[in-house]
Amino acid sequence: HSRAVTPPQVVAAKGGTPLVCLTAYTTPMARLVDAHCDIALVGDSVGMVLHGLPSTLGVTLDMMIMHGKAVRRGLEHALMVVDMPFGSYEEGPEQAFRNASRVMAEAGCAAVKLEGGETMAETIRFLTRRGIPVMAHVGLTPQAVNTFGGYTVQGRGEAASRIIRDAKAVADAGAFSVVLEKVPESLASRITKELAIPTIGIGASAACDGQVLVVDDMLGMFTDFRPKFVKRYAELGTEAASAIEMYAAEVRARIFPAAEHVFGDAPKAVPKGDT
Ligand code: KIV
Ligand code: NA
Repeated sequence: HSRAVTPPQVVAAKGGTPLVCLTAYTTPMARLVDAHCDIALVGDSVGMVLHGLPSTLGVTLDMMIMHGKAVRRGLEHALMVVDMPFGSYEEGPEQAFRNASRVMAEAGCAAVKLEGGETMAETIRFLTRRGIPVMAHVGLTPQAVNTFGGYTVQGRGEAASRIIRDAKAVADAGAFSVVLEKVPESLASRITKELAIPTIGIGASAACDGQVLVVDDMLGMFTDFRPKFVKRYAELGTEAASAIEMYAAEVRARIFPAAEHVFGDAPKAVPKGDT
């Protein structure tokens, strides 16, 4: 099988076929993502999607490492990137290096992602010069939800210049790519043209060099929120609900288990499977 995608290969993909990225938090989902994607992101969205947290703020380093280990076992091809959770890197470059190196060593990822633009440039430079490839994340940065006062579109009008400065700052600091979240198409297009590293959009238009979505969102498994930028490629949540409804009804009616699910006193003469 093909060798794993590397951060330099992601940089080299700038301006070519769009980079395909999805989140993954578990081994079976990582296998599905690995078959078709360039990048598997162990996002801190895991806190909301799998743990029922109200935001990503309660996600811990240990949670990211545990999900990172699970995803690692499911990947052969895709570049694995793990999100640094809120509070694990903002104090300064040393704290960021200490925690990011733990994530890399314990989860086995080749890169980390952290949120922030100009403010995080010094930290990104510190990490990248010491062997930790960094994917940056600007625009709507969900760990700053309380500062923003919600998950609103960023960089409209006057506010565009700040996001441009953020994107340039993380690129100059050595980030190998940058996620642009929930910004207008015109801004995403301008940033994508001005940066030498790939932009990976989520709610940032097809002008970006790649796309990312939360896998449970696009599969219709996580339905608490439905941002405009999510396209539902499946309705697995609805499918799961009707499967569970049918199971409950069949158990109550003694339809399940049926003869084929039941063990006899003696094994079958010609063993086939779990007899
Ligand atoms: O946590 C996450 O899933 C993310 C992506 C949506 C970019 O940061
Ligand atoms: Na995230």
